[in-house]
Amino acid sequence: MAPPRAVARRALFLAATPAVAARRAPRQLPRISSQRASSTTSTTTTTTTGPSLGSGVRTAAFVTGLTLSGVAVYIYTTDTRAFFHRYVVPPLLRFMYPDAEEAHNAAVSSMKNLYSLNLHPRERASVLAANGDPDISVSVFGTHLANPIAISAGLDKHAEIPDALFALGASIVEVGGCTPRPQEGNPKPRMFRVPGIDGLINRYGLNSRGADNMAMRLRERVRRFAKTIGVDELSVLNGEAGVPPGSLLPGRMLLVQIAKNKETDESNVDAVTKDYVYCVQQLGRYADVLVVNVSSPNTPGLRDLQAVEPLTKLLSAVVDEARKTDRKTKPRVMVKVSPDEDEESQMEGIVQAVWASGVDGVIVGNTTKRRTGIIPPGVGITPKEQMTLTETGGYSGPMMLGRTVNLVKRYRKMLDGQSWREHVQEKKAVDEAVDASIAGIDDTITGIPKEGLAAKPEASNNIPSTGNTAEQKVIFATGGITNGRDALQVLNAGASIAMVYTGLVYGGAGTITRMKDEIKKEVNTSEA
Ligand SMILES: Cc1cc2nc3c(=O)[nH]c(=O)nc-3n(C[C@H](O)[C@H](O)[C@H](O)COP(=O)(O)O)c2cc1C
Ligand SMILES: *[C@@H]1O[C@H](CO)[C@@H](O)[C@H](O)[C@H]1NC(C)=O
Ligand SMILES: *[C@@H]1O[C@H](CO)[C@@H](O)[C@H](O)[C@H]1NC(C)=O
Ligand SMILES: *[C@@H]1O[C@H](CO)[C@@H](O)[C@H](O)[C@H]1NC(C)=O
Repeated sequence: MAPPRAVARRALFLAATPAVAARRAPRQLPRISSQRASSTTSTTTTTTTGPSLGSGVRTAAFVTGLTLSGVAVYIYTTDTRAFFHRYVVPPLLRFMYPDAEEAHNAAVSSMKNLYSLNLHPRERASVLAANGDPDISVSVFGTHLANPIAISAGLDKHAEIPDALFALGASIVEVGGCTPRPQEGNPKPRMFRVPGIDGLINRYGLNSRGADNMAMRLRERVRRFAKTIGVDELSVLNGEAGVPPGSLLPGRMLLVQIAKNKETDESNVDAVTKDYVYCVQQLGRYADVLVVNVSSPNTPGLRDLQAVEPLTKLLSAVVDEARKTDRKTKPRVMVKVSPDEDEESQMEGIVQAVWASGVDGVIVGNTTKRRTGIIPPGVGITPKEQMTLTETGGYSGPMMLGRTVNLVKRYRKMLDGQSWREHVQEKKAVDEAVDASIAGIDDTITGIPKEGLAAKPEASNNIPSTGNTAEQKVIFATGGITNGRDALQVLNAGASIAMVYTGLVYGGAGTITRMKDEIKKEVNTSEA
């Protein structure tokens, strides 16, 4: 192959006409699946799954790949740690695509194409296996994960690039949100950058190609994988390949987020339930965890069962349907809750519904509608950015971290509260049988410094201990997490996993590798 350096410089200029290049691109390129196959079993051969290519075709595919979508500059090096991924690609993307959504689409399609050419940025094995590094592994739902970092929903809305995202080093990737029927989402423009504060505003309104479409793509992925290791689809889904049925990678998990269609009347619980149940039926088989976007019951006095009943009903239906999934281990179910629903009564309502329905955990955080406290003191933003901040939509950016940490602490405390558990004692007897084979979370993280990282030191008392955790609800945190120190803060506040989105947009493909290194360094220093 051509020397990457020289080629990349040319590609940088070719990239100016991405639309043309994209149109010339072949639709389907054969997958070079060495990574997958080698991670599964060493006896499998690592050849291409498609017909073998002549070198002319190979060169043509390579050259076309270079010009694709304007982000071919990734090829400069495929190591996520490269300077380039942090300081060149993100600003270049912003420059080439003034519209944030176009940049997002370009990034996704170039990741997709580079992955199919095996030229995607990836975390090198040397990073993973460095001798003497502290253990930053976590255990979630009985799966041992090498690290506590995840990519959160909305980056890969249509499940086009889960493997390329896993290659960046995340142990969890959440795809979606996906609605039962396809829907357009809001009119464009609907995503805006606020670069002065590394922030984003979006009002996508859940654009989705629909559950059938996503299921087809995920099923195809399972089939391809099954073929490379010479077994059938069902064996893979039943865990006989030795990998989780969702991620298809050892020690990783795939989350699939499901939502209702916009046209479905929010106040009609049966209709909403039907939407979610359909998504579970279509997508449950391909997920390790299903994520449901919930809105808090908005009635005061929520200890009152009546107010929580519709939400409980909805979540119970999702949990029941998930347990019917045609697969040996069933997908777990988590709910994602908005940071704006932060009143005690709202949170209690959600916690009560979580316990009563048998949901396994909560993803705490999201974008916010609020515009207060998002500009750090002493930081000036341009008049244009000031205008952008008045756009309708959800804001995300590093200044959200404090709110996320606080919410995690509060949810940890509430979810661990005794009263909810007692409330569901009888229902549990039945559920226990189902859950018996699956352990809860063991611990958050090994060797985290227990002091000095969390905003409020007393939060470290909330770290779940290894005993008495069989019933504990898992928390993942999202919102404003951009570096290793941030991640440790949410972990110490009681989360098992730290999720990123906006941090990746501004920090580039190496963000996750860097975060893991930062966590290891923090743990090292605190142990010394
Ligand atoms: C452009 C964009 C699209 C998003 N789409 C979804 C979505 O479909 N479902 C969802 O639950 N969260 C969505 N999110 C929220 C993110 O998953 C994440 O929770 C939020 O951005 C906060 O994390 P961050 O500060 O790391 O970005 C989206 C965020 C952005 C910026
Ligand atoms: C942590 O410390 C060990 C031994 O002191 C060292 O070998 C390792 O490289 C360090 N890792 C990091 C990420 O600093
Ligand atoms: C997701 O939840 C938020 C509030 O928590 C709500 O505004 C939004 O409409 C929900 N989306 C769907 C598709 O249910
Ligand atoms: C999270 O934010 C996304 C977009 O910012 C939105 O579509 C989704 O409904 C939100 N979910 C919740 C639970 O607020």
